[in-house]
Amino acid sequence: MPPHPSRLLLAGAVAVCASLALVMTGCSSTPTPKPTPHTLTPSPTPTALSLRDLAAPIGLRIGTAINNDTLARSTAYRSIAAGQFSSVTAENAMKWSAVEPVQGKYNWAAADELVAFAQQNDQLVRGHTLVWYKQLPGWLTAQAATLTPDATRAILKKHIFDEMKHFKGEIWQWDVVNEAFDDKGNLRDNLWLQKLGPDYIADAFRWARDADPDALLFYNDYDLEFSGAKSNAAYALIKKLKGDGVPIDGVGFQTHLDTRYGVPDLQKNMQRFADLHLDVAETEVDVRTPLPVTPEAQAAQVAEYSRSLQACLAVRRCVSFTVWGFDDGTSWVPNTFKGEGAADLYNADLQPKPQLDALLKVLKESSDAPHRAD
Ligand code: G3I
Repeated sequence: MPPHPSRLLLAGAVAVCASLALVMTGCSSTPTPKPTPHTLTPSPTPTALSLRDLAAPIGLRIGTAINNDTLARSTAYRSIAAGQFSSVTAENAMKWSAVEPVQGKYNWAAADELVAFAQQNDQLVRGHTLVWYKQLPGWLTAQAATLTPDATRAILKKHIFDEMKHFKGEIWQWDVVNEAFDDKGNLRDNLWLQKLGPDYIADAFRWARDADPDALLFYNDYDLEFSGAKSNAAYALIKKLKGDGVPIDGVGFQTHLDTRYGVPDLQKNMQRFADLHLDVAETEVDVRTPLPVTPEAQAAQVAEYSRSLQACLAVRRCVSFTVWGFDDGTSWVPNTFKGEGAADLYNADLQPKPQLDALLKVLKESSDAPHRAD
């Protein structure tokens, strides 16, 4: 069985606390030698604590998706990515089309760079994603129509083993299956369902456990945040998988929100999955709005970010809160939702927005009353 995430969380908390021993309280696991009078030096000017600093003592990882191209060219981007976050997810670099563009010829370069960045900065990595219907390699979609079920199964199994073994020991949580449900709550009519039937989901988790027994294995989807047909269907499936002994450890709530829609009952939905003895996580948080942003819309964005983090903090088994990129300049939103954007914590010039302050405030209040800590 994989180690319980709290152990990894604690290790990370100690590392961050150690580096901040002079400015933080509540890090008693790192003994600080008492200075003798002649070694006393003036106190350093307290620096503003980051998201990761504030989240560490309460056992929570704060993550971000990373755009590899921007990581390679922007020092400012790297600095924020390292300074604010204690976990990273590859926005695209670990997807099948990125790692196996030609059948049997792997290109791990971008994903390896991200893992190295994470290790240099004491960050954990969420692996995203192994079984999806999008961003499949061209060679696979080209032959999909003529593939037999046996050949499809062999290709999928090989993909899971090859990718997980490449990163073995380096990934904290893997999104093993992503977006298997459509918006109505039916299993999505994709290549995997068509060729392999619904058992592809259980098989994927079993293969994943064999490939890297120490990684936490997640099901990840959007709109699970809202009560309704889709979250009910996912709940029913995951309850059945657990009952059947399928090795699933957690459920990822993507949490792509929009100020035009209602407020999700996220805490309630996360709690019911957690009650199945699963970890839960917010994995792709952002809050988009129609452009240009009005003051009212920004207030709504601030409120939605705050509520989303508060929901995670209220569910004991919520182990991480990840934003889907931290800056409006690299956000996926404008390409997908025409006329919308401004979904992130920083603007396109990498200047912080009130949304960042809101998350810092929620964490600060939680550190003052650390209800997650035992
Ligand atoms: O790599 C090609 C590049 O060669 C080409 O020149 C360029 C021209 O358009 O396209 C590049 O591919 C793009 C890729 O991102 C990498 O930048 C694709 O067109 C584009 O569709 C793709 O979008 C990604 C999207 O997933 C694909 O569905 C977004 O960046 C990424 O943020 C988004 O992430 C998903 C999560 O994985 C799952 N949950 C939803 C989330 C948002 O859609």
